[in-house]
Amino acid sequence: LKNFETEEYFAKYDYKAPHFVCVSDCESVNIAELISLGGGSIEDFLKTQLVYPAMLGGEDLRKEISTLYKNVNEKQVLVLGAPIEGIFLTLNAFLRQGDHVVVLSPAYDALFNVAEQVTGNVSRWYLKQNNGSWSLDFDQLEDLLKKNTKLLVFNFPHNPTGFLPTQSEFLKLIELAKKYGTWVLSDEMYRGLEYASDEKLPSACELTDNAIVLSGASKSLGLAGLRLGWLIVKNPELYQKIFQFKNYTSMCATQAGEYLGKMAVRATPKLVERNLKIIESNLKITEQFFKKWSQRFEWIPPKAGSVSVVKLKDIPAEKFCHEIAEKYGVVLLPIRFMGYEDAYFRLGYGRSDFSPGMKALDLALENYFGKVSSIN
Ligand SMILES: Cc1ncc(COP(=O)(O)O)c(C=O)c1O
Repeated sequence: LKNFETEEYFAKYDYKAPHFVCVSDCESVNIAELISLGGGSIEDFLKTQLVYPAMLGGEDLRKEISTLYKNVNEKQVLVLGAPIEGIFLTLNAFLRQGDHVVVLSPAYDALFNVAEQVTGNVSRWYLKQNNGSWSLDFDQLEDLLKKNTKLLVFNFPHNPTGFLPTQSEFLKLIELAKKYGTWVLSDEMYRGLEYASDEKLPSACELTDNAIVLSGASKSLGLAGLRLGWLIVKNPELYQKIFQFKNYTSMCATQAGEYLGKMAVRATPKLVERNLKIIESNLKITEQFFKKWSQRFEWIPPKAGSVSVVKLKDIPAEKFCHEIAEKYGVVLLPIRFMGYEDAYFRLGYGRSDFSPGMKALDLALENYFGKVSSIN
């Protein structure tokens, strides 16, 4: 397997650099707050017996998760040891050497790297960028899809660009997959973080039975430390295959996660609403910031989600990001790791300490490039 460059980069600076202005997970809550938001009881949680939980995930938790979707039942929900596990399991259980896979790109490293390791036959389908926004290139997709294309992988709201298709584009994508007899892996980790209620997309599992949907509590709910993730798989044979694979990885999740997971699902609307407010306020800060720095950078605002990218106008991004992290303690994520040209870094808008982080970045840039005297 190719190195997981995004996570290795985070490991290098995690708990060392003070300002992480590029993370994709939203603001967290503590266990007591989560239980209160989910309507549970701390006493009940403390009585949790630490035996093995059910291997598929407890029935109560799977039922609770199924309520987040139309026409999904608990037998179609598989609880994971962590969201990231769902990518490894799906791609290993579903694909064989030589199968053709198309991955919307840039892409969170695992979505591409694991598919490439299993099949050796992955095509990148790039988002098109023009005039400060991203779009889907359906002509390019039709050129890429072949008779042996087994899987089309996408992720909306998109990491790292913050791209979100319209409802009709999303339906067109699903229809194209159907036309070519291709399954879809829909990574919906950022679902719920659409900025307007009429922009919310259906889940891919509500549109086709030939979908594998990945979701979890890390991003939209801000509960990355809970490590709660799940797959929705409507095809019983594939569900079973993925489950068999899981016996070799996490086998099952955690008992504490069973209780807290139910709280997380019940608290979903409140957590999402809170995180959308944080994002909205951080986007205003970012807009002002890049008015000042427009000679050096092009900020491409997100359409949805907690992240988007910034283009460096005249220097490569990766070296710049390392220098800013090492010298000034501000961590920006280079997008080359996700299969894109080395001219972009990612920002993350979901945290409440974003504002001090951006002030530190402003000082760092003044040192790095020299003072910018006025807002241009
Ligand atoms: C698109 C996408 N899928 C899956 C994951 C994995 O989530 P987790 O790190 O919570 O396991 C991430 C995390 O960054 C992600 O961005």
